[in-house]
Amino acid sequence: DLTHGLILLLAYLFGSIPAGVWVARYHGIDIQKVGSGNTGATNIQRTLGNWPALLVAAFDIFKGGIAVLLARLFGLEGLMLGGVALAAVLGHNYSIFLGLRGGKGVATSLGTLLFLDPVVALCVMVVGVATMALTRYISAGSLVGSIAAVVVSLALGRPLWQVLTLVALAALIFWTHRENIRRLQKGNERRFGEKAAQ
Ligand code: G3P
Repeated sequence: DLTHGLILLLAYLFGSIPAGVWVARYHGIDIQKVGSGNTGATNIQRTLGNWPALLVAAFDIFKGGIAVLLARLFGLEGLMLGGVALAAVLGHNYSIFLGLRGGKGVATSLGTLLFLDPVVALCVMVVGVATMALTRYISAGSLVGSIAAVVVSLALGRPLWQVLTLVALAALIFWTHRENIRRLQKGNERRFGEKAAQ
């Protein structure tokens, strides 16, 4: 109904808020033109350092979280709740404020997962951060983490709607990381700590 449609729209608009672009602009930089060109915390880190990156990561996680939290407060559940999570991430990836361009949806997906299923979110963070630490590729940690969300949900016997939602989020993350995947295969992906040439 109308309320559900409005909440989906609101989730998309929340997701669209381009924190990375704005924080970089504040520092006089067009983040879409440096490093990987991505608007997310990873590219902010390699361009502007840790603190701006933390700010962007926190805000992008918050966007996803607040969308699902709001949907829950309005009584949404099941696939509708999953739809809200997807809408927030689609907003981040295809932002209305950036001409339908944007980020890769990792932090925002994590934000939604924190309020969809905090236990699974915790497991995903452990697996994702461990992969990042071992490989020093943020992208590899993101990709592995997105699969872990599905695997852990299945292992814990979570409902089908949740599994389907997380499959969709993982598919989106693989799609937005297609250039990262190509670089990982070629061995020229940027490692964490490699600075962006400006
Ligand atoms: O969250 C995005 C990360 O996995 C990759 O970012 O800038 O290296 O493409 P980037």
